[in-house]
Amino acid sequence: AMCLSYFLPPWAYVRATGLSSGYRMSFQGPTSFRVIQISSFANSTWAHSQGSGWLDDLQIHGWDSDSGTATLLKPWSKGNISDEEFAELEEIIRVYFYRFTQDIQGSATKFQLKFPIETQVTAGCELRSGGSIVSFFRGALGGLDFLSAEKDTCVPAPEGGSRAQHICKLIMQYPAVINIVRKLLFDTCPRYLLGVLDAGKAELQRQVKPEAWLSSGPSPGPGRLLLVCHVSGFYPKPVWVRWMRGEQEQPGTRHSDLLPNADWTWYLRTTLDVAAGEAAGLSCRVKHSSLEGQDIILHWGEKGLDLPLLTKIFST
Ligand SMILES: *[C@@H]1O[C@H](CO)[C@@H](O)[C@H](O)[C@H]1NC(C)=O
Repeated sequence: AMCLSYFLPPWAYVRATGLSSGYRMSFQGPTSFRVIQISSFANSTWAHSQGSGWLDDLQIHGWDSDSGTATLLKPWSKGNISDEEFAELEEIIRVYFYRFTQDIQGSATKFQLKFPIETQVTAGCELRSGGSIVSFFRGALGGLDFLSAEKDTCVPAPEGGSRAQHICKLIMQYPAVINIVRKLLFDTCPRYLLGVLDAGKAELQRQVKPEAWLSSGPSPGPGRLLLVCHVSGFYPKPVWVRWMRGEQEQPGTRHSDLLPNADWTWYLRTTLDVAAGEAAGLSCRVKHSSLEGQDIILHWGEKGLDLPLLTKIFST
């Protein structure tokens, strides 16, 4: 269990242990929705903003800044939001982007902001295991936390210094803005999150089995081998991959980042640096929810090197 918790997020660990004791959590797949805004200001006249909407790390909305409209990346991206309300939300975002750009450009001198300026905002809500939904709003300036929202209050981040304190004070003087943000965070977002998780559940809660294969990487040094276990095409994201000798986990196992494939599945590379003579008898073991306990086990070939990969290539 120790090893599981090393690689899986805590909720997946709860789910995995839940599975083994015969209890199944009622939801799998993503649990949060967020919008991300990235605005870049090259100088006092040039600005560009990007917007997107995400369920955990799956993108379901884009933002077309030319037309000021949302692009729906999935047929169910609207969730259970009506066309009228969706159009209203687009209008709010359009006005927000416009005002945000104007405000930054207009007050750069006053707040002694130096171009180029990079701002990032993420806001949304997350379903917790008990069923409660927590909302969040965070803004960053130049890659550092700048301010966040706690309930109805703007909270300056320590990294934001006196500038963040000043801007928070300023924002708090606009109750109309606070009201809109409050409504979006604590009413619209939770309602939308539950709706979209339901609308997309066939895709969000699907199980796709990983494919796995072995290869050797660039030699780490004289007389040493880099064994590589590739695991690809699985969904959802939590996965467990280890190099093993029999039932013994090999401590030097290293994981790449989990990389996204274009089709909403994931890829992971797991390597082990061994003395060439010790490669025989090692295997790569993959656990994933889609495999329902039938772990994939690939044995490193007796002769080492690419035998398993070659076998895979020539048998297909
Ligand atoms: C502002 O930045 C843009 C993009 O880098 C550049 O094309 C433009 O010439 C700049 N304008 C001024 C007034 O410096």
